[in-house]
Amino acid sequence: MSETAPRVPDEAESEDVVNPWSVSSSSGKGVDYNKLIERFGCTALDDGIRQRLQSAIGDTPLHHLIRREIFFAHRDIAPILTRIENKQPFFLYTGRGPSSTAMHVGHLLPFIITKWFQDVLNVPLVIQLTDDEKFLWKDMTYEEAFHLAFENARDIIALGFDPKKTFIFSNFRFMGQCPEFYQNIVKIQKCVTMNQVRGIFGFGDSDSIGKIAFPAVQAAPCFPSSFPFIFGAMKDVPCLIPCGIDQDPYFRMTRDVAPRLNYPKPSLVFSTFFPALQGAQTKMSSSDPNSSIFLTDSDKVIKTKINKHAFSGGKATVEEHRLLGGDCDVDISYQYLRFFLESDDELDRIKQEYSSGKMMTGELKKILIELLQKIVGEHRAKRAEVTDEVVKEFMTPRPLLL
Ligand code: TYM
Ligand code: TRP
Repeated sequence: MSETAPRVPDEAESEDVVNPWSVSSSSGKGVDYNKLIERFGCTALDDGIRQRLQSAIGDTPLHHLIRREIFFAHRDIAPILTRIENKQPFFLYTGRGPSSTAMHVGHLLPFIITKWFQDVLNVPLVIQLTDDEKFLWKDMTYEEAFHLAFENARDIIALGFDPKKTFIFSNFRFMGQCPEFYQNIVKIQKCVTMNQVRGIFGFGDSDSIGKIAFPAVQAAPCFPSSFPFIFGAMKDVPCLIPCGIDQDPYFRMTRDVAPRLNYPKPSLVFSTFFPALQGAQTKMSSSDPNSSIFLTDSDKVIKTKINKHAFSGGKATVEEHRLLGGDCDVDISYQYLRFFLESDDELDRIKQEYSSGKMMTGELKKILIELLQKIVGEHRAKRAEVTDEVVKEFMTPRPLLL
């Protein structure tokens, strides 16, 4: 059966909305990811896969985002694991739609895990900045979107990617630099009908033709022939894409098209969403400053946002809390610690103390505030070191170390 078969309309029943443009859930615990796996037709990232990955990489422990099942699902990761085991080549691909100067901490997840894969497995990486997508979807000029691509590249570079192995590109610019990229886009477009994109993305009669044609632009970097200066004549190197599960529709489409072009199908690993401060009903949004912690937030802003807005699973009174304990499943501060606190022991201790009522919400929030101030502060310092020259280097089409 075609992978594009599971479609948008089922959302009415599940009440979880997950697509590249919106994510929301009616439940305080957030999106039901098991249902989502079924609806999208991807596969749970289970113990078997984790163990195989662990033995393939040897002594390095699995990243906590993988250990804690924050990366929870995949498509076809087995062929990539086989390649790792047999020391055969593959590459990494991920991306970002530059819709605002400020990226929030949720946007970092796919990049953090991508960097981990690059470090542990020593693989080349391409990062697409879809300034064209944001121009088409948002109320934004071409100049703004193009400028934001470079601003966001700075944040991404600050995470420490290796310039010898990483190519970052703005679609607006790269399209004119690389005929092979555009050729692949058109080849993909020829394989997908209006009927199919309507089914996969929910496009309607009043959507611009730019939107309808765009999915091919996000699909093209899956194929090594889009980057001849990196891969040369190697046409059958597959890619692994770490991303949020909201991006899956693009790659369901890509995987359908690939065999018809005689190209390798991309494999994917998907993360759950980093929830909004107000609760797990929705993912963070760049357009609501109080829904998330931004990489540009000062220590003071981080403290105020968490104290004022982070949804608490604690009880209404001290007496009640001491007696019954807090609910970690809905407590946003605890949930954030799962994403960013590296030590399993420390996280277990906090969970135990909070859910038994020994730890109060104020103490829990204090731990999170200090951790995020440290992470965002370090990021701020690293970002300041990323000069225009460095950005230019990453964004110049060039051979990478394979
Ligand atoms: P964008 O900019 O919306 O998001 C960038 C990446 O971050 C993920 N993400 C999140 N992950 C966890 N929790 C959140 N709250 C959260 N918000 C966003 C997204 O899933 C995505 O992985 N069209 C894409 C850009 C793109 C791309 C790609 C993404 C182009 N090629 C290949 C992934 C892989 C976009 O607008 O992403
Ligand atoms: N860089 C890898 C090595 O250390 C090989 C490799 C990984 C590769 N991904 C690739 C080579 C993509 C070519 C294309 O040997």
